[in-house]
Amino acid sequence: MTTSNDARLRPDSLAVHAGRDDLRSLGVHAIPIDLSSTNPLPDVLTGGDAYERLATGGDVGDGSAVYQRLWNPTVARFEEALAQLEGAERAVAFASGMAAVTAVLMAARERRGSHVVALRPLYGGTDHLLATGLLGTETTFVDSVEAVERACRPDTGLVIVETPANPTLELVDLSALVAAAGAAPVLVDNTFATPVLQRPLAHGAALSLHSATKYIGGHGDVVGGVVACDAEWAQALRPVRAITGALAHPLAAYLMHRGLQTLPLRVRAQQAGAEVVARALEAMDGVLEVRYPGLDGCDPAGLVGPGRQMAGPGSMIAVDVGSSERAAALAESVVLFTHAVSLGSVDSLIQHPASLTHRPVAAEAKPHAGVLRLSIGLEDPADLIDDLERALSRSASARPVAAARR
Ligand SMILES: Cc1ncc(COP(=O)(O)O)c(C=O)c1O
Repeated sequence: MTTSNDARLRPDSLAVHAGRDDLRSLGVHAIPIDLSSTNPLPDVLTGGDAYERLATGGDVGDGSAVYQRLWNPTVARFEEALAQLEGAERAVAFASGMAAVTAVLMAARERRGSHVVALRPLYGGTDHLLATGLLGTETTFVDSVEAVERACRPDTGLVIVETPANPTLELVDLSALVAAAGAAPVLVDNTFATPVLQRPLAHGAALSLHSATKYIGGHGDVVGGVVACDAEWAQALRPVRAITGALAHPLAAYLMHRGLQTLPLRVRAQQAGAEVVARALEAMDGVLEVRYPGLDGCDPAGLVGPGRQMAGPGSMIAVDVGSSERAAALAESVVLFTHAVSLGSVDSLIQHPASLTHRPVAAEAKPHAGVLRLSIGLEDPADLIDDLERALSRSASARPVAAARR
């Protein structure tokens, strides 16, 4: 499959057409889904050659795809489209965002070394994976770009960062971070920003990772992950994916690819709603702090805006209501928001990071107990504001949980 014409398209058109160049010649309009778990081999010799090529991270070319864990055309289409949106040579799709993080850590160990520098805050699952050392990595956690430079060593295989960060929405200057990392490759978790707002490879990052479960899928009905990178990294990631069995399922790839078509539209509309909700939250009784990259004070380095690192502030908001009891009462009182983990869906979600997504994070790096994370969907922001106002007034009388149990 070639998508050579797509390189001339603007991002919104790319989102609609990338990875679909051959559909007309196939006589179809929607992406064909190939569910083959195995594929016929023309003969033993070429079958073996194809296996060897795919098992060592090569492209399928004109050969057999051999076995779904090695290659799948529906997955490859999604990868082609995502790579184009990220401005990358390649993308490699995985069964989940955490499978993608795992594969990058394993490939980085193989390529450069087992030491990792991680700039906190990170998604709790990533933080947990690094803190446990489950994959044989040794992680130095740091809290500033300056500290990244001090922490990097000759055996540093990877520097990991999220911007905006989960859940506090802190922003990191990617060009400064890449300079601080020196020779160590930088992985940016781009889940919150999406390629619509931020393309980390343009700022020198080696890898841009997504939990595609979030904005890319966009409808809360698919779990997947994807990494955009150059051809060498793709060649290193594919064998890890094949060996560990972390391939995205073709049905998931279909949904993620379809999600890309409306991604720019959804990201901009959800962002417009989030800007209204964030400003309204600032004025609400019982709200101590609102963190949103579009608010004064949340972007001190001026990283957000047209033509800057992040083209807009996105649609994730962190709000501090002062205590875990009040946070719980608010999360349990909203009606239009769904109290659930995950984010980036067309419907709005609210969750309490300290007890859910960031539960396994070490005490010193855990989000404040009064913080709730809001993912703003496509509802009318006025309805979301009404919901939050009503829930805040109901939660105003929340007693501490311990006291209520006595
Ligand atoms: C920023 C970020 N990265 C990675 C992940 C992990 O993705 P998944 O749940 O698809 O494994 C998540 C999940 O919440 C996330 O929020």
